[in-house]
Amino acid sequence: MNFKKKILCIGAGYVGGPTMAMIARKCPDYKVTVVDINPARIAAWNSADIPIYEPGLDEVVQEARGRNLFFSTDVDAGIREADIIFVAVNTPTKTFGEGAGKAADLQYWEKTARQILANSEKGKIIVEKSTLPVRTAEAMERILNTNDKGLHFEVLSNPEFLAEGTAIADLEAPDRVLIGSRETPEGLQARSEVVDIYAHWVPKKSIIESNVWSAELSKLVANAFLAQRVSSINSISALCEKTEADVGEVAYAIGTDSRIGTKFLKASVGFGGSCFQKDILNLVYICQSYGLTAVADYWESVVKLNDWQQQRFVQTILSSMFNTVAGKRIAVLGFAFKADTGDTRESPAISVVRNLVGERAAVVVTDPKALPHAKADLKDLGDTVEFEDDVYKACEGAHAIAILTEWKQYKDLDFARILKSMQSPAFIFDGRNLLDHQALYKMGFNVFAIGKSPLRHF
Ligand code: UDX
Ligand code: UDX
Repeated sequence: MNFKKKILCIGAGYVGGPTMAMIARKCPDYKVTVVDINPARIAAWNSADIPIYEPGLDEVVQEARGRNLFFSTDVDAGIREADIIFVAVNTPTKTFGEGAGKAADLQYWEKTARQILANSEKGKIIVEKSTLPVRTAEAMERILNTNDKGLHFEVLSNPEFLAEGTAIADLEAPDRVLIGSRETPEGLQARSEVVDIYAHWVPKKSIIESNVWSAELSKLVANAFLAQRVSSINSISALCEKTEADVGEVAYAIGTDSRIGTKFLKASVGFGGSCFQKDILNLVYICQSYGLTAVADYWESVVKLNDWQQQRFVQTILSSMFNTVAGKRIAVLGFAFKADTGDTRESPAISVVRNLVGERAAVVVTDPKALPHAKADLKDLGDTVEFEDDVYKACEGAHAIAILTEWKQYKDLDFARILKSMQSPAFIFDGRNLLDHQALYKMGFNVFAIGKSPLRHF
């Protein structure tokens, strides 16, 4: 089959995999290849059991795989034939040296740029998909365009805004697609080629074009603003618990002001996920490096509040259970950082479980999708933590239940049955405000929710 264009994506992760699967579905005239250095991941993408749980993704992969969507470990061959290369390798927070704990670790990015150069026999369009510090494209251009082959590369930024659990819907009908390039004739030509890909299914008015630095920075800022809303409402949840205000009612009342809007105002045990904290710390680091201390401090407080909210949740458990949880069985329902994903990166459940174990509680973790990751995250705790597939068994003999992920199925549990199997007094700590608190209280539970007055029988 003669394809109009050959697209390559380096990095078959949460972003690269679903994004390329959607491009392949919508652009049957393009050949889309996804490569990764991890052979197990590629083998999984080529199997019936794809490596990411994401509603709807299976069907998209099955439709396009083998037709115009290919997964491979041969990065060099992929680079050689590609016209457009998306780079979606991971950019974790640096753990060493200058900027440790805040700056992005760009070693995979730079290695990838050098590999692209080594294997290119013609100039190419390089598209940043990974979240990167503003002005990374400049460094990439320097590496790529300092070559003795006479090749020219255009580096563009096309940040990904999809959220896990809704990735397919987000890709199918995005609020917007953002494409930033240099505003030179070559840059604008490259921009139009990337616009053409998305124009296969995204209305032109939803494709935003900008300069490359605006696109890079917008990704960090979008995540920082979303996370800031969660921290803002979480800060108010603490005040609600002191004043008999109800955070759900406050969020509803302010959210109906169209200037504020309703989304991302759900108080919780804290935000998690691979992006929010990493991107804010990255923003903080960039501001610090430009001497913008007030700006850096402002954004850093969003992360600090999030850490505090998680600690506060454990303190509530401790103080309401008579200041000791030592030896008490606590069933943690949900370990994923949000519902509809098996991903546990930066999940608040990690710190909550660790702090409970620090208090010598006997923690049992259950989750419909995330137990394999939970086991890996808590490996160093050995058998002090129990893992249980069956949520009813997890609750058996427990003194308390802590809801840490808003899985819908937890709403429909037979709580009367659960209560009978628990120690009394029985406690529920709802870190996601998911359950019907009044009903549970009437049944006999002592109920502690986020940003609401406790419902206790003593
Ligand atoms: C990506 C981006 O990397 C991150 O910056 C952004 O904020 C979110 O999207 P994600 O897709 O979630 O992250 O990362 P991950 O699931 O870890 O996938 C990255 C993949 O790149 C891994 O499968 C890894 O094996 C691969 N990789 C990494 C390469 O193929 N080559 C490398 O040199 C490094
Ligand atoms: C986020 C961004 O939404 C997405 O645009 C970007 O590309 C990647 O980062 P994701 O991390 O998948 O996506 O999940 P998101 O739905 O944003 O939730 C992040 C965290 O905030 C979760 O832990 C979630 O439970 C929490 N959250 C979200 C709240 O606690 N309250 C809310 O009101 C919304």
